[in-house]
Amino acid sequence: MVPKAELHCHIEGAAPPELVERQAQKYGKDISAFVRDGAFVWHDFTSFLATYDAAAGLFRTGEDYALLAEHYLTGLAREGALYSEIFISPDHARTAGLPPAKYTDALGEGIRRAKEKTGIEARMIVTGIRHYGPEAVEAAARFAADCRHRLVTGFGMAGEERFGDSRDYIRAFDIARDAGLGITVHAGELAGWESVAAALDHYRPSRIGHGVRAIENPDLVRKIADESVVLEVCPVSNVALQVFPDFAHHPFPQLRTAGCRLTLNSDDPPYFATSLAREYEVAAQHFGLTEGELAGITRVAIEAAFVDERTRARLLASLEQHTPDETKL
Ligand code: ADE
Ligand code: ZN
Repeated sequence: MVPKAELHCHIEGAAPPELVERQAQKYGKDISAFVRDGAFVWHDFTSFLATYDAAAGLFRTGEDYALLAEHYLTGLAREGALYSEIFISPDHARTAGLPPAKYTDALGEGIRRAKEKTGIEARMIVTGIRHYGPEAVEAAARFAADCRHRLVTGFGMAGEERFGDSRDYIRAFDIARDAGLGITVHAGELAGWESVAAALDHYRPSRIGHGVRAIENPDLVRKIADESVVLEVCPVSNVALQVFPDFAHHPFPQLRTAGCRLTLNSDDPPYFATSLAREYEVAAQHFGLTEGELAGITRVAIEAAFVDERTRARLLASLEQHTPDETKL
């Protein structure tokens, strides 16, 4: 099994329908409007976000979130993952009635349990939600900067990329960067290459969530490659959300040929019928990556991870140890 690492998965979006159904029973809620025949119901990005918000609303206590993180990370480790960064959303927790510090403590507990069972290492990236507006994103950044949870190591922004003006979010990213947090931001998924260019100019991220629509501008692709900005690519999500019609039209191979540093990620796995293992399979089947090249993708993810240097060195040694000799490049 190829050793794997994931940098881009939203923990609320990682809850499978069976777990959401269990939560609905626990809270006596009818979820037939958004879970049918054991699958989430949505048909475009807006309805995806609505279902996502409704499902997230069924995680309300610390134990609900600890269970979710433990469940996701334990499964991920069984797929061969050595490392995971989960995007977390204090806004979703607060809406569900859980204060942000209790939320991070609970997720930290889930991470601890998963590590104890499987050895998987994990960190949390606090995300602001763009369409909640600049003040909400700034509040999320301030929470990330002040929370002092040792597993909160990054800050990012998710949500509707086409909402608002990029400049209005500069202060949020300044707060997070000044606190020493790693910076990533969703761009170039639902919005075009201009959103990636603006994100690079305004927020100075070391990574971009998706970023794949940079392909629309060759100068921008060159800049991403030259500046070693890492793209958190989520191929199955992109096709499910119709960013590209199919894998044959996905720009992964062109971005790779252009020298961009790429990683593979599942984004919101049960919504898109995917998993981290499936993303690696897609890269092998549709983009022609060999096992050695897939291990190289894992290496890029570990190199770009928001971890201290000792942990990075340990993860790189573990990657080396778990990569079969005959697949080494
Ligand atoms: N939140 C959860 N999944 C997302 C995605 N694919 N794009 C933007 N925001 C998200
Ligand atoms: Zn995402």
